[in-house]
Amino acid sequence: MSGLTIKNVKKSYGAVDIIHGVDVDISDGEFVILVGPSGCGKSTLLRMIAGLEEITGGEISIGGRVVNNLQPKDRDIAMVFQNYALYPQMTVAQNMGFALELAGAKRPEIERKVGEAAQILGLQPLLGRKPAQLSGGQRQRVAMGRAIVRDPKVFLFDEPLSNLDAKLRVKMRAEIKALHQRLKTTIVYVTHDQIEAMTMADKIVVLQGGKVEQIGTPLELYDRPRNVFVAGFLGSPAMNFLEGRLTAGPKPTLVLPSGAQVELFDAPAQAEGKDVLIGIRPEDISFATDGGVPATVTVIEPTGSETHVALEVEGKELTWVMRERAELAPNQKVQLSFKSPNVHFFDKATQERL
Ligand SMILES: Nc1ncnc2c1ncn2[C@@H]1O[C@H](COP(=O)(O)OP(=O)(O)OP(=O)(O)O)[C@@H](O)[C@H]1O
Ligand SMILES: [Mg+2]
Repeated sequence: MSGLTIKNVKKSYGAVDIIHGVDVDISDGEFVILVGPSGCGKSTLLRMIAGLEEITGGEISIGGRVVNNLQPKDRDIAMVFQNYALYPQMTVAQNMGFALELAGAKRPEIERKVGEAAQILGLQPLLGRKPAQLSGGQRQRVAMGRAIVRDPKVFLFDEPLSNLDAKLRVKMRAEIKALHQRLKTTIVYVTHDQIEAMTMADKIVVLQGGKVEQIGTPLELYDRPRNVFVAGFLGSPAMNFLEGRLTAGPKPTLVLPSGAQVELFDAPAQAEGKDVLIGIRPEDISFATDGGVPATVTVIEPTGSETHVALEVEGKELTWVMRERAELAPNQKVQLSFKSPNVHFFDKATQERL
């Protein structure tokens, strides 16, 4: 059993409270991703799990054992950082085996474990090279190899891909996911890249200002965000928001500040008559067949597979992702429909989902 429990964990630096009582339950073998904007406390939380940072309050257990007072080396975890700091004078094999050597392992054991990790990561042909002779992605794999040889209960990753170019990130993303499927070790992975979170995680923890906003599977968070923050954070391009008052009655309609009316597919009963924010994902917008919301096209960005269209509605910018090729031009006036069953409703005052 190598689950991980974070119970009411707090952190203050002097008088400044950074983490305000975080609870997360991680099952054995689960791949959990911590996401949130810069400064929300992701690295601090990870470093507290690793034991590199003392906790101010609460309890952290690994495999059922409270580790609050254990040294990092006694916690049975391995951490991969953003700048993976390989030893430049050592070969790949020496870099990977160094921790085992420090722990007093015998030469044949070190060679066997390094060999196994090298095979998993496709590093066998590179074992004799120095870090300077490797590409960014290969260095990243050596850093992972160093973690794997220790056969830890839990892997901790802090933005391991952020130094890589876009193409390599996508490749390494798939490699880390495949690695997890093979090793089935519990992983806690920090990123501020919500696409990494959506594609890799079994479970995502969304943090803001040292607090948990929501925990769930990627699709739970995407389909049922609990508040405006989570709704706007997950999804790329981000969800669009429009504010207005929802009229009561059989045909749900949003009355925008200008008085313009937006017909909706449906609305939850508890939203009727309220000041709300509706959230529409860029892929849920369509052309209106009759009526619709007047909008002006501002920018058109074809990506090949789809077209991203920036529009102005009531002085606000919206993003529309069209699957079909758009016959649109800047400054063109269009009529939009938001009559999708996937529209989200939030209370304007509390920002909570209705
Ligand atoms: N040693 C320290 N002393 C005082 N404040 C600190 C210290 N380390 C971190 N902080 C503060 O704690 C907060 C959380 O920092 P943390 O590094 O955990 O953020 P993060 O979510 O990892 O951000 P990023 O995405 O930028 O890496 C920040 O406001 C930071 O300034
Ligand atoms: Mg960080």
